[in-house]
Amino acid sequence: MKVTKTTNKKVKPDFNKLGFGKYMSDHMLVMDYENGAWKEPEIAPYGDFSIDPATQILHYGQGLFEGLKAYKTKDGRITLFRPRDNFLRMNDGAERLCMPKLDVETALEGLFELVKLEKDWIPTDAGTSLYVRPTMYCSNVFLGVKAGTAYRFFIAVCPVGAYYANGLEPTRIFIEDFYVRSSIGGTGAIKCPGNYAASLIGQEKAHKLGYDQALWLDAKDKKYIEEVGSMNIFFVIDDAVVTPELTGSILPGITRDSVLKLLKKDAYKTQERRVSVDELIAAQRSGSLKEMFGAGTAAVISPVGEFAYKDETFSVGGGKMGKITSYLYDKLTGIQTGRLPDEFGWVVEVK
Ligand code: COI
Repeated sequence: MKVTKTTNKKVKPDFNKLGFGKYMSDHMLVMDYENGAWKEPEIAPYGDFSIDPATQILHYGQGLFEGLKAYKTKDGRITLFRPRDNFLRMNDGAERLCMPKLDVETALEGLFELVKLEKDWIPTDAGTSLYVRPTMYCSNVFLGVKAGTAYRFFIAVCPVGAYYANGLEPTRIFIEDFYVRSSIGGTGAIKCPGNYAASLIGQEKAHKLGYDQALWLDAKDKKYIEEVGSMNIFFVIDDAVVTPELTGSILPGITRDSVLKLLKKDAYKTQERRVSVDELIAAQRSGSLKEMFGAGTAAVISPVGEFAYKDETFSVGGGKMGKITSYLYDKLTGIQTGRLPDEFGWVVEVK
């Protein structure tokens, strides 16, 4: 793999004040697709791409992205969490958007090389990691609406802290009952920019009303809970941990899947099924809704302390992080950072 190192290294940010997604590292991986094949990936100094105004991604949105994290363990090893699953999910998205699939082994190899080169950018304090953003977009210069023939895949990395400004403070969530994020048959199950663009209005509305995030309902009945947009959602109702089933309009989160597997292994009762807002409100009123939390790569495990629907607000778990939420946060981050053993084969060491 061709590696061109920067001659102008950046001054690193204060790793104690990272926030999310603000500081890009010194290098990136780039791989182009032309004439029916991917070219060799290259590592280059991080920098701008030159984009013709008629480049198709800017007009018709044929693009995909992923998010995963790299960690440095106490004994200095560099690890990634379930990286193969991200490239497999990107390939599912590629099929839906008529884009070329990646060769997963080549993408992994490129990712390992980049993360090794950027190892000094991996923060080690609790709650921090190196966020990895693989992205693919259509690079043809053409204004007709059709699947492209040229694509660029790149990976950029940045050191991050908590996704939400308040860290592990329980968030307050607004259930959106007018706008929808995605419908069955649409693109809700893949990571394409359009899903996030469609969700911004809900987020803005939630913010205006004093909430942190919008929780989306299904597009047909506006009755069943889907996801938050930046994370999947879970409820502890009586003795079961419940999450909306994957209907085709919800992102099949890798953290969601990890949470379900961790819970099953530790003999918790789990349910993947439809959950209506009515059921959620009834469970809150009867006291059987014990906990609510979100799960995602960026968000990790994020407690929810309150939700609102129409004009009513409902407190969850006394507005505090619940026991199962806390157990999951510790267990998942423990495995990810090498503090706890990985019984699932999720952690991949980069050598
Ligand atoms: C992730 O969790 O990695 C995502 O891509 C979600 C995004 C809102 C940051």
